Amino acid sequence: MEITNVSEYEAIAKQKLPKMVFDYYASGAEDQWTLQENRNAFSRILFRPRILIDVSKIDMSTTVLGFKISMPIMIAPTAMQKMAHPEGEYATARAASAAGTIMTLSSWATSSVEEVASTGPGIRFFQLYVYKDRNVVAQLVRRAERAGFKAIALTVDTPRLGRREADIKNRFTLPPFLTLKNFEGLDLGKMDKADDSGLASYVAGQIDRTLSWKDVKWLQTITKLPILVKGVLTAEDTRIAVQSGAAGIIVSNHGARQLDYVPATISALEEVVKAAQGRVPVFLDGGVRRGTDVFKALALGASGIFIGRPVVFSLAAEGEAGVRKVLQMLRDEFELTMALSGCRSLKEISRDHIVADWDTPRTQPRYTPRL
Ligand code: FNR
Repeated sequence: MEITNVSEYEAIAKQKLPKMVFDYYASGAEDQWTLQENRNAFSRILFRPRILIDVSKIDMSTTVLGFKISMPIMIAPTAMQKMAHPEGEYATARAASAAGTIMTLSSWATSSVEEVASTGPGIRFFQLYVYKDRNVVAQLVRRAERAGFKAIALTVDTPRLGRREADIKNRFTLPPFLTLKNFEGLDLGKMDKADDSGLASYVAGQIDRTLSWKDVKWLQTITKLPILVKGVLTAEDTRIAVQSGAAGIIVSNHGARQLDYVPATISALEEVVKAAQGRVPVFLDGGVRRGTDVFKALALGASGIFIGRPVVFSLAAEGEAGVRKVLQMLRDEFELTMALSGCRSLKEISRDHIVADWDTPRTQPRYTPRL
């Protein structure tokens, strides 16, 4: 059957993938309240479209950290993509560069930074998990830099792994024929089976729970790459991130896989944008499945968005062609949304083009019926 929107890939992935893998990709933490809310919150934001504007030419291009891309739609880091498709991260990298946009490679990729770089040109960011062993971190950052990655997305919401019950039930672990390739030579590339989630045990063993703001400063001493802080949800942390030298902020709840009952990212976005005061760009990920979602995020002040699950689901369904199609469908929908709301370039998208459920009524009723 013909695919007409991004969300349709999930059902196909479910049919194709082993249950353990599909559940790992699809799940959120605990009650999965935030998982639903990441989607639901978009539906409580409505448009205030402007009409009779010449929309025969629409420019979706933008610049992120100085890099020109074709649209404000980018790829979030998702771990272990070779579980979805044998080409895994290679396919994602090729699809992103064909679409003229940025791919973020996960620390826990099943392809190394060097392997992904070898797929050809493309603007790529590297997502960093900070291991207890800081030599491992320093080495990895240096390798990413040498392989031509342009920024570090430092994930700050994972001192411990969120409680993902499907992974516990399935005894999730990385299949033995795959490796966390960036750590292969460091003897940290394999994941043991555990009595619960193998990934949760891996995180408990290797990831540094002491990570704090001083480490954001430390990171700047070992790399010249700009640092995006991924996982900010409050104004307070936005201000500290800016003071700590972050080059940008990613409003993210890790696809609802860490702390359950945090707000949808689209609900937290405006608070963060206001606190950033235009000093650094603010990005968003979480639940973006439609071009209208992209527009809403930009109207609330985001400089761009990232998608996570749509990439692994489309990879599972159709490999590189699937990821290309996801990016193309989102691009087409976003362009149509711009046209139908009267915006010809990203700078024309304004807060007045949407109304959110937390807005106070803008106009008093003009007509009072006579009693
Ligand atoms: C993730 N995410 C993630 N984040 C990160 O910083 N490092 C990682 O390795 C991963 N791995 C990962 C695997 C899978 C299967 C998912 C679904 C998510 C979080 C990811 O970068 C992003 O924040 C969310 O996926 C965005 O939400 P959506 O688009 O999946 O709703």
